[in-house]
Parts: sequence; C-alpha cells; structure tokens
Amino acid sequence: MIVTVHPAAALAGTPSLPADKSVAHRAALFAALADGESEIVGFSDAADPQSTVACLRALGVEFEERDDVLGPDGIPSLFVQGRGLNGLVEPAGPLDCGNSGTTMRLLAGLLAGRPFTSTLVGDDSLTPRPMSRVAIPLGQMGARIGMTDGHAPLVVEGGALSGITYRLPVASAQVKSAVLLAGLSASGTTTVIEPVRTRDHTERMLELDALEVGGERHLTIERGHRIRARQWVVPRDVSAAAFFLVAGSIAEMATIQLTGVGLNPTRSGVLDVLRAMGADIRTSNERERGGEPLGDLRVEAPANGLAGVEIGGDIVPNLIDEIPVLAVAAACAQGRTVIRDAEELRVKETDRIEAIADVLRAMGADVEERPDGLVIEGGRPLKGAAVDARDDHRIAMAAAVAALVADGPTTIHGAEAAAVSFPAFWDALESVAAGAVEMG
Ligand code: S3P
Repeated sequence: MIVTVHPAAALAGTPSLPADKSVAHRAALFAALADGESEIVGFSDAADPQSTVACLRALGVEFEERDDVLGPDGIPSLFVQGRGLNGLVEPAGPLDCGNSGTTMRLLAGLLAGRPFTSTLVGDDSLTPRPMSRVAIPLGQMGARIGMTDGHAPLVVEGGALSGITYRLPVASAQVKSAVLLAGLSASGTTTVIEPVRTRDHTERMLELDALEVGGERHLTIERGHRIRARQWVVPRDVSAAAFFLVAGSIAEMATIQLTGVGLNPTRSGVLDVLRAMGADIRTSNERERGGEPLGDLRVEAPANGLAGVEIGGDIVPNLIDEIPVLAVAAACAQGRTVIRDAEELRVKETDRIEAIADVLRAMGADVEERPDGLVIEGGRPLKGAAVDARDDHRIAMAAAVAALVADGPTTIHGAEAAAVSFPAFWDALESVAAGAVEMG
C-alpha cells in the first residue's frame, strides 16, 4: 500500500490512540493463565496483540469480544476464560506469531515448561530476528529449544524445568518476561537480575517481588505463582502517542490532545527527551488504572522550535521504540543530536538505524549512521520524497510525521505496516492534518 502525505502547516485535534501493545500482549497471556474469567478493557485490534490471541486460542484458551460491554473509548471488552497453566493443550499445528517478537519470545518462555511440543513460526521480518537470547536462559532451566542458526522456527519441546538466577546480558523486557514465565513451571525460585531497567509491565501485572541490590533489580517468581482472574485495563500506547508528540513539536502551529496515555516511568523517556529538546508537552489528569499509571497529554508547537540533544545510556531501553520518530524530531531541531547505545535497533522489525537514516536522507536531512545509533545535524529543510517503510510499522509512521513538514508530498511505500501496532494511524493522522493523507 502506498500512502502520500502532504505537508500540513497547522495540526489540531484529539486523535484516537491504539491500545498499549506491550500491555495488551501481557493482558491476553496472563488472563489466559489465570483460573477463571477475566475482562480486558480497551484491548487492541492491532496485528501484533491479535497474533498473541490467535496463538493462545490454538492452545485451547477461549476469547470472546463483547460488544455489549464497552470500555471508556467505546472499545468492546475482551473476555478470556483462563485455563490455568495446566489447562493449556498441545496445539494442532505451528503457532503463527506473525510479525510479533513479543509473542514469540514470551510464548517460548511459557511453553518451555508445558508437557508438549510446540512450534513457533513468524513472518519474513520475525524469522531472522535473534532468538538465542531466550533459548540460552531457557536451556539453562532445562528446556529443549530447536532453532535454525539462532532463528525461528522455534521448536519448543516442553518438559521439567529448574529455577535459575539469570542476569540479563541484553536489556530486554521480552527476555526478562520469557524467563519469568518459564519460572511459573520451574522447580523452586527463578530470579532475573536486571542491570538496566526495562519496561516493567510483566512484574506489575504478575504482582512479583522486586528488590534493588547494588543498583540492579532482582525479580523473583515461584513455581505455581498464582495469577488472579480480574479486570485488566490497557492504557493507550505512549509509543503511538510519540508520533503525535513529535508531529506537534515540529509543526508551525499545533495543538494536539492525547487522552488515557500510559505513563509508566519505564516507558515515558520519550517525554523527557522531547521536553529536553524544548517541546511544549503538558500532562494532566494523572491517574492509575489496573496497576499502570496513565494521563492526558497536550502538545503545542514550541515557540522557539526544538534543539538537538544527546540520547544514550540507561534511558535507551525506556525509549527504544520511539527512536525512529525522535530521529525525525532531531532532523527538524537546531543543532546536533547524537543517539548512542541503541544497537538493539538493528535487530527490530527491520534494521531501524539504517531504515530511518535512509528515509531522512532521502528527504534531505544530514544523518550519519553509527553502529549503535545516529548523528543528526538538524535544521536542514526536509523535502518530499519516495520512501520505503521496509515492512516496519514504526518506520512507516515516523516517515509520515517527517512528511508533514516537508516542502512537497512524500510517498510512503509499505504503509500498511502501521497496522502492526496502530491500524487506525492514517485516519488519526488525517484527523489532525485535514487533507494531508492521500491513500493509494
Ligand atoms: C517489548 C520490549 C521491547 C520493545 C518491543 C516490546 C515488550 O523489546 O522493543 O516493542 O513488550 O516486552 P526488547 O525486549 O527486545 O527490548
């Protein structure tokens, strides 16, 4: 699908945001493992969380969307008949994780301790992504996981597991969650040590004990840890909000409101960085729902524009998914932005360092690629161009934001990728920039 985005001088509105992808995956998974019925308020129709639901259905879990029970945004609630850990059944065929690394890695952890064999497959973007990072700790627990050169398909021969203590060598919430999920079936205690903090939805939602020891975080889970059937609430995705926060910060005129956005401090680094660049973002109505903090955001075009910034160190896992769109902000800011310690971007849905550098260079920006990041000399005017999303949702949406401030139309090839996390993105963009989005 090709979408053409035209420049837009003024942005205004309150676009609807999708469900937080990370929380949605986990809500589906943990509700499936609880004993009894759970309701998930504000679930997602995005492709990635739907892959998790499809896999869980293949494992025998029932999900029902109820149009008569609507959440705050008019989204039908998803009801889940939890089967408990021991209620999962051997799937009849391969479990298709689609484009979703979270689905594959978390399911690998869960299924490692189940008494049957499962095969996890993915699409052309997921298949080459690194899976040894989960297979290694799960192997130390006694799991047998077959891979091809460290990649999917993953053949998980479930069996008896023993608890381990595992220090994460990469700052990855997916690996942390996979080991903790395996810990549900493992004898004794399983401990994951996090030298650098990553998103903490798993431990919040599973109500796990966390200890700070010498600057590191120790998370423990016991075999058979009970997961309560309950109402789970999914906030709107701060990673989706980021596209509008940047759009509002680089436009000539803008007032955009975003409501019910997840503001978990392990995810909100994008707000800190944009504010440090001079963005005018106000938070209001902060509240907590379902154990996750949320609030409303209002972004206005900053009177003095944005300035370049340095991004590196421990904040990187906190905003890793937002770096493509932060690179767009950097291209529109005055001065130099340096992004470092972000080599993980090279193993996302595509090599996002190369992909966003290509998009921005095609549009006339001064961007240098580094092995672990980017150096962007901001302030050059962007020009309309033809760009390729490379089957990556965040590259498609970041390119669309850059296109709003270019001097002519930009055609985005592979624009359908947005549906992986934000199916209504193009409508949401059009809702704040009337006439800017031309489909086809
Ligand atoms: C996610 C963790 C991050 C993030 C991904 C979602 C999660 O990946 O990039 O979009 O929900 O746990 P890593 O665990 O690979 O860092």
